[in-house]
Amino acid sequence: MRTVVIGGTGHIGTYLVPQLVRLGHQVTVLSRGERSPYQNDGAWKQVELVQVDRAAEDAAGTFGERVAGLEPDIVIDLICFTEDSAKQLVDAVRGKIQHLLHCGTIWVHGPSMTVPTREDTPRRPFGDYGIQKAAIERYLLDQSRRNGLPTTIIHPGHICGPGWTPITPAATFNLEVYEKLAHGRDLLLPNLGLETINPVHADDVAGIFLAAIASRSTAIGESFHVVASDAVTLRGYAHAVADWFGQEARLGFLPIGQLREQLSEQDAGAMWDHVAHSPNCSMDKAARLLGFRPRYSAIEAALSGIEWLVDNGKIT
Ligand SMILES: NC(=O)c1ccc[n+]([C@@H]2O[C@H](COP(=O)([O-])OP(=O)(O)OC[C@H]3O[C@@H](n4cnc5c(N)ncnc54)[C@H](OP(=O)(O)O)[C@@H]3O)[C@@H](O)[C@H]2O)c1
Repeated sequence: MRTVVIGGTGHIGTYLVPQLVRLGHQVTVLSRGERSPYQNDGAWKQVELVQVDRAAEDAAGTFGERVAGLEPDIVIDLICFTEDSAKQLVDAVRGKIQHLLHCGTIWVHGPSMTVPTREDTPRRPFGDYGIQKAAIERYLLDQSRRNGLPTTIIHPGHICGPGWTPITPAATFNLEVYEKLAHGRDLLLPNLGLETINPVHADDVAGIFLAAIASRSTAIGESFHVVASDAVTLRGYAHAVADWFGQEARLGFLPIGQLREQLSEQDAGAMWDHVAHSPNCSMDKAARLLGFRPRYSAIEAALSGIEWLVDNGKIT
């Protein structure tokens, strides 16, 4: 298989690309060349790297042709954020590829209504990112069902792994939250700390892309979540992290409106975004149709990132 991965040197690509190579795919990765994968792997020597700015080429209307020109069998699009961008790619590769896999997000659901949320739950996205991703999903599924576009959509939860900061138990990305838990200091959580987050290890995200490629006939025309086997409450996550540091969690609680007033704009925004979604997505469909089950629990996925933060002196 000749496989093109668009945006393949980040969280997902670090795990996905070497596994594709080992499965015998001839892999081309498109990126701006500004960053390297999080982990070294000899498999990257066999990967063709093409330097391209997708945003610039989308604006110029040339990106789709650039991808089609590589004559791929499979396209894995990890960085598509607008329906226009998806349309350009589809128009260029229609009828020429075997499988187009698109990376979405569980934010397409908007706030959780019933849990665990299934893939077929009616969409109520809010915020530009979730709204755009839901529009892309709608467009791709429509193209699949009406015009036979061979496409699959993968919706990850909060992607975690060694190399970057996982979402914290306060639903922010502020490292001070981990330091407070590490040192047994007081930590305020929003509301009663019972809203949820849905982490997933980047290796499991890579795994479901591979499972969808392997089960092409059942994967085509479908969307799949990829989250850990369980969602965690903010409170449960805080206790697990404190336990890992050998401390008691000293938690306090404030209504989110009051707590946000004490935070930076960035932390207040992240907290609101995550708490307002409170995702808790089902992995039943991936198990049923693809035989895929995540290897990491939510806490294991998050701890893999926290351990990296400690080992690399990012938190003391
Ligand atoms: N992170 C999460 O928790 C999360 C959760 C749910 C869904 N998702 C979805 O996951 C996807 C992102 O995957 P990821 O987390 O693996 O990404 P990532 O770690 O942010 O990596 C992005 C990749 O795309 C490349 N890139 C960025 N801008 C580019 C551009 N303009 N032109 C060409 N290449 C570009 C980057 O390399 P260069 O910088 O060198 O170009 C890198 O290879 C998105 O579709 C996102 O919606 C993420």
